[in-house]
Amino acid sequence: MAVDVLIGLQWGDEGKGKIVDFLADRYDIICRFQGGPNAGHTIYVNGNKVVLHTIPSGIFHSDTINIIGNGVVIDPITLRQEILTLESLGVNVRDTLMISRKAHLILPSHKYLDAASEAAKGDKKIGSTLKGIGPTYMDKTGRNGLRVGDIMASDFEQRYQELKSRHRQLSKIYPDIDFDWAEDEWFECIAFLREFKKIDCEYYLHDALQSNRPILAEGAQGVMLDIDFGTYPFVTSSNTITAGVCTGLGVAPSSIGEVIGISKAYCTRVGSGPFPTELFDEYGKQLQDLGNEFGATTGRPRRCGWIDLVQLRYSIIINGVSQIALTKSDVMDHFDQIVVADAYEVNGRSSKELPYDLCMDGYRATYKSFEGWKCDLSAYHKTHGTVPDSFGKYLNYLESYLQVKIPIISVGPERDQLILRK
Ligand code: GDP
Ligand code: IMO
Ligand code: MG
Repeated sequence: MAVDVLIGLQWGDEGKGKIVDFLADRYDIICRFQGGPNAGHTIYVNGNKVVLHTIPSGIFHSDTINIIGNGVVIDPITLRQEILTLESLGVNVRDTLMISRKAHLILPSHKYLDAASEAAKGDKKIGSTLKGIGPTYMDKTGRNGLRVGDIMASDFEQRYQELKSRHRQLSKIYPDIDFDWAEDEWFECIAFLREFKKIDCEYYLHDALQSNRPILAEGAQGVMLDIDFGTYPFVTSSNTITAGVCTGLGVAPSSIGEVIGISKAYCTRVGSGPFPTELFDEYGKQLQDLGNEFGATTGRPRRCGWIDLVQLRYSIIINGVSQIALTKSDVMDHFDQIVVADAYEVNGRSSKELPYDLCMDGYRATYKSFEGWKCDLSAYHKTHGTVPDSFGKYLNYLESYLQVKIPIISVGPERDQLILRK
């Protein structure tokens, strides 16, 4: 048995939550391996919309174990809220959720530092979700962080106070920071988390692999927000790529199996930073309206543009993507033409490689158009993989360009709104 991986291939919000929820029946264990409450993974279950931030998207399947891995950063306040919401929907979270002792904790002061850092950047701001992600990972790599396992230690509160004073010192570099600590609620949530199962997920997953239990690792964000390979500095602070599964869960590279990449049939980005195929015209507006492109975590409008095959090929290469799930094609049901970026012109020459820094000038995406399918794709979810001809041509082109099969096509937000191709 191996650990299969599911990751976003663009700038996040590709529909990872929906596809994990659909695939969850095939797995015993679903694990988040990086990121934190900056993620918002939307799932529709029996007409209820739920947005998960920290908890893996397998939680609605009662036989599935859901693990928050060591690579994740946890805000106890958000996590308690998520758990309470799920419990109000009748989900048995206590028996199926496990948390790595090595996952790091987001303190209230991390969130203030995040906000102050963004404010100080002015118009160069990253567009962070302000959930404290960057400062928490900085404390992790700076070797100052507090971890979930520490909450059981008798000196936990003292260690919290030490880190808090450190943050107070750091905050002096920012002019008007307001440290309103929200500590009482945070400690209440820490007490709440003490009741949950804590594990060393490296051993747990090793044993699971030995027992041939199928495992899925669920990515957050997307490849283009990866700290190393994304559009730096407009990225998040973790490795969102397949390699992050090994460090974020404690599994060996040789244990990685299928890598399922999720891509929208167009492209979106929320926050600042380069987006070569962004549309500022009526098409962009239509994608935003018809795709309901507003952030699941912050509610911010998402920037919209055409699908970028140069960018997707880059993501596929870095991650060893073995199959693609294409989402939200249904959003373009009424479009006369469907456009894809199939090359970049870099200093006057055509290229299929992304330039080193997409923030710099000297390149532009070039495009190819396809005839629109002009019908309701969601009606095809029961046709055993049959799709309209013009949509089929578009899919064949994507598969041949990207050299990866697209066996899963999502045509609506609900769990069963899928076309499964052989
Ligand atoms: P994630 O962060 O990758 O899990 O994605 P989000 O949940 O942030 O955003 C995806 C949005 O698209 C959510 O509102 C989903 O309910 C919705 N969605 C997912 N797949 C489809 C699809 O195939 N068609 C349509 N119309 N909506 C979809
Ligand atoms: P999911 O898992 C889309 C973006 C933010 C910002 C940048 C840094 O739902 O796909 P951070 O809060 O990490 O400091 O923000 O990354 N971002 C996301 N964009 N989907 C996400 O997660 C994101 N998580 C972070 O908008 O541009
Ligand atoms: Mg999202």
